[in-house]
Amino acid sequence: MTIQSSVTFKLLDDTTIPWIAWGNGTGDAKVKALDCGRAALESGIRHIDTAQIYHTEKETGESVKQSSLKREDIYVTSKLSSHDDGSSRSLDEVVPAIQESVDKLGSVPDLFLVHNPYVAKPGELKSLWKILEDLKDQGQLKSIGVSNFRPQDLEIILEGAKHKPVVNQLEYHPYTLAHLQPILDIQAKHGIVTESYGALTPLLRHPTGGPLKPVLERISARISKVHGKTIDPTVVLLLWTRAMGVVAVTASGNIERIKKMGEIATLPDLLTEEEIKEISEVGKKVHFRHYTEHMENDFALPDLPNGA
Ligand SMILES: NC(=O)c1ccc[n+]([C@@H]2O[C@H](COP(=O)([O-])OP(=O)(O)OC[C@H]3O[C@@H](n4cnc5c(N)ncnc54)[C@H](OP(=O)(O)O)[C@@H]3O)[C@@H](O)[C@H]2O)c1
Repeated sequence: MTIQSSVTFKLLDDTTIPWIAWGNGTGDAKVKALDCGRAALESGIRHIDTAQIYHTEKETGESVKQSSLKREDIYVTSKLSSHDDGSSRSLDEVVPAIQESVDKLGSVPDLFLVHNPYVAKPGELKSLWKILEDLKDQGQLKSIGVSNFRPQDLEIILEGAKHKPVVNQLEYHPYTLAHLQPILDIQAKHGIVTESYGALTPLLRHPTGGPLKPVLERISARISKVHGKTIDPTVVLLLWTRAMGVVAVTASGNIERIKKMGEIATLPDLLTEEEIKEISEVGKKVHFRHYTEHMENDFALPDLPNGA
């Protein structure tokens, strides 16, 4: 039996978000953010993910302007990042930094995230979130959310929050499922949507692909036959992400791949419930992440092999 999923997900604040985004924070997508952003929009992608620290907000705004689409038909995400040297933002820097993002983008982003909990100085995370809540109330920001937040970070801002974060953008794929479970439990309780970056890690960054690789290859072969078009194993991972109710933030600086990404955006549900479950179950037997950073600090790792 196949499941029914939509090309957009509903957020806590009653807005909707396209299930797949093209991001310009990594690889060639970052270097060629304007041309690739334009190509992504022409190919059918309706969601661009940028951040202050990527230095691609201007190119993001320009690609939106140069496209034949109306601004309201495109979903733009940006993020309040730390300084380029990694140092945190003082509270009085937050409003001007957000204004700078809006100026570079040429419009208010549909979603604005706190890039990670260390953007705030120690002990100031709650106050920083309050600034975002106030800007939302004043109509200067639209949806607000977070990224790379562990359970303890979520708990700080959720306590007495006027506006809960609508999303938490994380490295999310089958090999992080076991580790992320405490975060996913909090998010399920509060209705916070997960956004996945690094979704292709099991296939592209794990040294061997681990036990998931043959499973994804088998599913890819089955659905390519049924669909009459090649659906490669990376696409299977993205479709699994959607089936899990998680927004996929992927990237490419390769025009041919960007075109395929546009086609993926409107693919029907091709995975069966059994296949979705199998990908999750096999993934949960391994722990492997590409972007370690602080996600392994003060957040217990599961006792699992890396599956090499
Ligand atoms: N919030 C955060 O802290 C955070 C952290 C990391 C990333 N992000 C966001 O998420 C976006 C995506 O991150 P990601 O790069 O980790 O995502 P990903 O989807 O795991 O990987 C995308 C990369 O995979 C390559 N690729 C895609 N399909 C491929 C295929 N079939 N075969 C071989 N290579 C393939 C692309 O290279 P080509 O260019 O050659 O196609 C691209 O460099 C970033 O750009 C950024 O917007 C956010």
